[in-house]
Amino acid sequence: MPEPNGVSVRPIPRSRGRAYVAAMTTHEFPAGTAHHAPRPPSPRLGEHTTRVDLTGRSAFVSGAASGIGRACALRLADAGAAVRLVDVDAVALAELADQGVGEAVVLDLTDLDAAEEAARGADIVVNNAGVQTVAPVQDFPPERFSLILRLMVESPFRVVRGALPHMYERGWGRVVNISSVHGLRASAYKSAYVTAKHGLEGFSKVVALEGAAHGVTSNCVNPGYVRTALVEKQIADQAAAHGIPEERVVSEVLLARTPLKRLIEPEEVAELVAYLCGDDASFVNGASLPMDGAWSAS
Ligand SMILES: NC(=O)c1ccc[n+]([C@@H]2O[C@H](COP(=O)([O-])OP(=O)(O)OC[C@H]3O[C@@H](n4cnc5c(N)ncnc54)[C@H](O)[C@@H]3O)[C@@H](O)[C@H]2O)c1
Repeated sequence: MPEPNGVSVRPIPRSRGRAYVAAMTTHEFPAGTAHHAPRPPSPRLGEHTTRVDLTGRSAFVSGAASGIGRACALRLADAGAAVRLVDVDAVALAELADQGVGEAVVLDLTDLDAAEEAARGADIVVNNAGVQTVAPVQDFPPERFSLILRLMVESPFRVVRGALPHMYERGWGRVVNISSVHGLRASAYKSAYVTAKHGLEGFSKVVALEGAAHGVTSNCVNPGYVRTALVEKQIADQAAAHGIPEERVVSEVLLARTPLKRLIEPEEVAELVAYLCGDDASFVNGASLPMDGAWSAS
């Protein structure tokens, strides 16, 4: 049904979601998480460290069906925002919508015109959807490189392009780009991902400069390894590739450069995102905020 802002909210085909996602993504990170440090207590709904009131605000969250995006959607909804849940995973979106977290918009964000349209009228944009492919440059599939840049750089540009006129009109807006420590540092075999995240960093800063006079901030959040499907698949893949247990992949491969030897919880990232969306963060603009256990400090 067409919405006033032009976004088409399609009925959710519950039978299609997973297969469609599998075709679209290649999350290189596997199941079976190896933990060698105690999990921190996860914040529960209503028990957050950051008091942010987003009543009356609308939030567009891409990749809202899983991992960090899902945690952000839950957190922003808990802060009072009307959340637009955007993802290709129709089944997972339906579950969130059924829980009253927000409005499900089933969308392939590499459809750039649709992505721009879906973001119209949003006060808050969280550019989060992303995928990973691990291969040496000489073997990296060119079409995969193009897709990653399209999803993780061009689509955020189009989303922000769609949202800014409304933000400027209201004199208030928040753009939060889920970058990565790989927006600040490189790792071998992740050429498309590292290139995309560095591109997103540059785009975020330009939006910060242009938006400042309009009450719009744009920032990047830069997590290290977060406990999500994307990372869990990578752990399993690397365990198989190296012939070592998953626990050793975490400590010796993933966290080799990280002094703080644990994965981050998605809720920890969502807490920083919520802070950035609040009024207390109005002077935090054009920043890149690492949540990487001091990886990028070394
Ligand atoms: N997990 C980590 O360790 C980590 C660390 C740093 C940054 N990040 C970044 O955080 C973001 C989210 O990662 P995650 O770990 O939560 O991943 P995830 O795989 O759990 O979730 C990604 C979501 O994006 C959706 N998606 C993928 N392609 C899409 C498309 N074409 N159109 C619409 N939706 C699409 C997927 O369906 C999925 O719901 C990514 O940008 C990732 O680069 C992740």
